[in-house]
Amino acid sequence: MTNPLPTLEELAREEEPWAGYARLRDEAPIYRPPAWDRTFVLSRYDDVRAVLADSVTFSSSMSPNVTPAMMVHRDGEPHDRLRRVMAAAFTPRAIEVLAPGIERVAASSLDALIERGGGDLVPAWCQAIPVSAIAEILSVPPERQPDLRRWALDLLSVFFAQPEPGEQAAPFGRRTWVQAECAVRICAAMGPRLGGELLGLIFRGAKQRGAALTPRRLDGCRGLVEFVAFLNGIVRQQRRAPRGNVLDMLIEAMEPGEDGVSQASEVEILLQGLALIVAGVDTTATFLGNGVRVLCERPELYAELRANPDSIDAFASEVLRLWSPVQWTDRRATRAVEIHGQTIPTNAQLKLFIGAANRDPDQYEAADELRLDRGETGDLSFAVGPHACIGRNLALLEGRRAFRILLARTSGIHLEERPQRTLHPGTYGFEELRVKLERA
Ligand code: HEM
Repeated sequence: MTNPLPTLEELAREEEPWAGYARLRDEAPIYRPPAWDRTFVLSRYDDVRAVLADSVTFSSSMSPNVTPAMMVHRDGEPHDRLRRVMAAAFTPRAIEVLAPGIERVAASSLDALIERGGGDLVPAWCQAIPVSAIAEILSVPPERQPDLRRWALDLLSVFFAQPEPGEQAAPFGRRTWVQAECAVRICAAMGPRLGGELLGLIFRGAKQRGAALTPRRLDGCRGLVEFVAFLNGIVRQQRRAPRGNVLDMLIEAMEPGEDGVSQASEVEILLQGLALIVAGVDTTATFLGNGVRVLCERPELYAELRANPDSIDAFASEVLRLWSPVQWTDRRATRAVEIHGQTIPTNAQLKLFIGAANRDPDQYEAADELRLDRGETGDLSFAVGPHACIGRNLALLEGRRAFRILLARTSGIHLEERPQRTLHPGTYGFEELRVKLERA
């Protein structure tokens, strides 16, 4: 009897899911995971790339006939309009301004750890760097920065909900109570029109992804209301006193132009501000953590990079390709379509395994090996097509500068215990990285 193929749950849990990915690519290039209704998994490079590039046949919105709140879940004109606004704020020049702050936080938080001989790098370094970058972008003052990660997790639980088979909604009474409490709070902060609109979007967020309003997601809605009200306060202040940062450009997009029409509504901008914390914090922190783990486990690579810092950019690219923070993303088929002889019905869900595509031996020679001389790899870590990551330049800047600082300021780095993979579905990273650090 042949071995059954790994389930999605196993692939999301295993520390080394790569052999499982190879089996999907070889034996089931269109895989129907058990217990997942109308779900198809694609794992080959060419297939994943082609679907990402075709946003007409493969929608980013999981429910037909609604315009989702988040840009990443929208299609067509409503997506492109917001993307133009956001892209203008994320040009390489706008991002370069953030470099000195990134270097300062990377160096000072590392020095504090070295002083103590080491510690858990995840909160103290991997998260501290992107949190400070996003805080700068959104003008979040230092005392509220610790809240950013909590809000990011709230956002993940609501707008990026990954529905699980058999999950249960919180009891009706509790849902009503939390919704009423949130309504009072958000309307007091932003008035009934704006507050009401945002409240509706937040409470419908999980449902649009086909997920139930579980107790965790209900708490997530509460956190998001708190954040949106907070960000709205910052926007009001900054309207009066611009700070010359990315947020100014987003605020400008809310103002009516010469034709009396704004490029994006206040609601849209506040929600995209929210999206930046989730898109920009955990992904980048995970990327940094994955790089640190490799450096701990491969002392010869650590020594080579210390001796030859010019290879650090190539190292960062290979870390992203081999251990992509986003392992899979979702699309919905807008019509019946045939792939590898199988019909994917209209409205079926596709899980695009970026992590498997990036290790496809038909695309990469010695695909599982980290090679510093690959040059441009064309990997899919930041996706391609209309939704390709808008923060790519920022994430690369953070990774390259942070690894450079780590390698320059330490002469040894050792894991104190075996790290555990995080259990956020669709991601690859580590919960904690307890390390001993030697000062250079
Ligand atoms: C290593 C870090 C990062 C990785 C691996 C990553 C990965 C991705 C991927 C795979 C997508 C496409 C999702 C899809 O189409 O389903 C995406 C989209 C996006 N990312 Fe990133 N990202 C990273 C960092 C960032 C940062 C730092 C920001 C901003 C501060 C950001 C903002 C966005 C936005 C706004 C989108 C939506 C683009 C659109 O829908 O047009 N990301 N990212």
